[in-house]
Amino acid sequence: MKYNYDIEGVNNLRDRVLNILLKNRDNFISGQIISNSLNISRAAVWKHIKSLQEIGFVIESVSNRGYRLIGIPDIIDKFLIESKLQTNRFARNIKIFESVDSTNNQAKKLALDNAEEGTLVTAEQQRAGKGRLGREWVSDKYKGIWMSLILKPSLPPEEAPLFTAVAAAAVVKGIEKSTNLHVGIKWPNDIIVNRKKVCGVLTEISADPDRINYIIVGIGINVNHILDDFPQEIKETATSISIEKGYKIARYEIIAQVMNQFEQLYDLAVLKNDFNHILDICRENSVTLGSEVRVCSRNDEFIGIAKNLRNDGALIVIDAMGNERVVMSADVSVRGVNGYV
Ligand code: BTN
Repeated sequence: MKYNYDIEGVNNLRDRVLNILLKNRDNFISGQIISNSLNISRAAVWKHIKSLQEIGFVIESVSNRGYRLIGIPDIIDKFLIESKLQTNRFARNIKIFESVDSTNNQAKKLALDNAEEGTLVTAEQQRAGKGRLGREWVSDKYKGIWMSLILKPSLPPEEAPLFTAVAAAAVVKGIEKSTNLHVGIKWPNDIIVNRKKVCGVLTEISADPDRINYIIVGIGINVNHILDDFPQEIKETATSISIEKGYKIARYEIIAQVMNQFEQLYDLAVLKNDFNHILDICRENSVTLGSEVRVCSRNDEFIGIAKNLRNDGALIVIDAMGNERVVMSADVSVRGVNGYV
């Protein structure tokens, strides 16, 4: 039998043991082969197997046959994410926290400290998760994906709003790929399943007059919540992947799929300057276009019908007087979706 123990890019010994088990998931692999391939004692192999079992990996151990991985826990683990990544840059540098104030804040610190583009910050829990328009984002431990990606496109700041569309399209495609759910976008960045919000995107930008310094794309996906986990005020309007699927999907798979889609779409946008494909994904999956919407900005409020997405990402709404209104950024509610009745 040919064993696969390619260990390129995997440094920590525990992760290297896990790498071998993962790549031989349907087969037993002997402790001797693991110990030879990593140049460690069999006792050391056993120690790492035990530490993997302690964090929830289910590993069968049979004398004369060796070890076989049969269950993977739903933890956010760098190595598990890497096992599903098909990217060159995105999420290749990952910082994982057990608990933080906000992954966007941490990503900002890293970006200011010259972190490379594609660096991903995730946390099991946020103590002060931030939503759009100064709202709070409830980010309970182990329930969801709370992550922030650092982008550094060499583009002028006028292009920055388009990256909200890139993020929304990537999240839609990534969630669809990993869950098979049909996912919609409520402009500009609420991700909707069955008329309820499953994910929100918060994009924060730092720019000089002529160029973007960095963009932080914060993505919050409700994954393991049951209905009772949501605070009363959002119970009617929020949902989670588990609620919609009826079973659990490992968060590391969703993270990896979103990153895979994100890098592809981002490269199309930044390297080929092609935002059309991205805007088409946003149009095709929009729950806003064609619907009655209520638009609230700082000094205006009106009701109209959302007509189209402009090529710069703005929403075109026809108001009650039949006038075409361009909405760049505002709180837009869609009748019948996520709370607007
Ligand atoms: C919204 O819909 O209002 C946007 C919610 C964005 C939440 C995510 S969770 C990860 C990242 N860190 C934060 O503090 N917020 C974003």
